[in-house]
Amino acid sequence: MPTLLHLDSSPRRGSVSRQISGEFAQTWRKTNPDGRYVYRDLTADPVPHIDHAQIEVMHRLEAEGVRSLDVARGAARTPEEEASWAVTWPLIEELLEADTILLGVPMYNFSVPSTFKAWFDRVLIAPLIADPATGQGPLSGKKVVVASARGGAYGPGTPRHEFDHQETYLKAALGMVGLASDLTFLHAELTKSAHVARLFQFQEMAATSYLAAIDGARTHGEA
Ligand SMILES: Cc1cc2nc3c(=O)[nH]c(=O)nc-3n(C[C@H](O)[C@H](O)[C@H](O)COP(=O)(O)O)c2cc1C
Repeated sequence: MPTLLHLDSSPRRGSVSRQISGEFAQTWRKTNPDGRYVYRDLTADPVPHIDHAQIEVMHRLEAEGVRSLDVARGAARTPEEEASWAVTWPLIEELLEADTILLGVPMYNFSVPSTFKAWFDRVLIAPLIADPATGQGPLSGKKVVVASARGGAYGPGTPRHEFDHQETYLKAALGMVGLASDLTFLHAELTKSAHVARLFQFQEMAATSYLAAIDGARTHGEA
């Protein structure tokens, strides 16, 4: 049974990244009527920031070169570590169980929202990191779709192209855990043209970008 893990991180009502991820999820669910759908709203249910206890566990896993997920699962030693690991481990299991991972991620300050980053910091533990020799890890082979919205435009040739640390960051971080081999970005750009006067002239481009992202969500949701 295929499993879709869908995360959203925009706190905004009317969020564009949520519209795109929603379109993908809806299509995927129609295409996979027997599939399992897991939804996590990082705004409604934020993942607490990583803490001292989890970092202690992570340092031990790194120091001991632990590659086994079973060993990692039982690696907490103190009550504080147990409590922190109990927050993190279900998030890791969700990732492991998913065949497709759908990430709704707006651009915030050229990167990603802190709610998304808090989730990421907890789940990227050493045993998930791809083996540098083979490029393979426990998450390899999964399909990842990023539904993104940004106020401006960041494509090649635009003045702010070099400021796009959202896509570059996600590619690097997802790649570290073997999740960049089947990775698709669906960007709706220039969303600020709806309310910023100097960007009104770009409303048509924004509409085209939005429709292309929605269309991409449908196409990829059916795949
Ligand atoms: C805190 C914050 C930071 C933002 N930073 C950027 C930015 O660096 N570049 C940009 O193009 N838009 C930026 N925006 C605009 C958002 O990317 C834009 O509104 C987008 O549509 C948000 O996604 P959403 O519609 O899913 O909420 C920012 C918005 C907020 C609230």
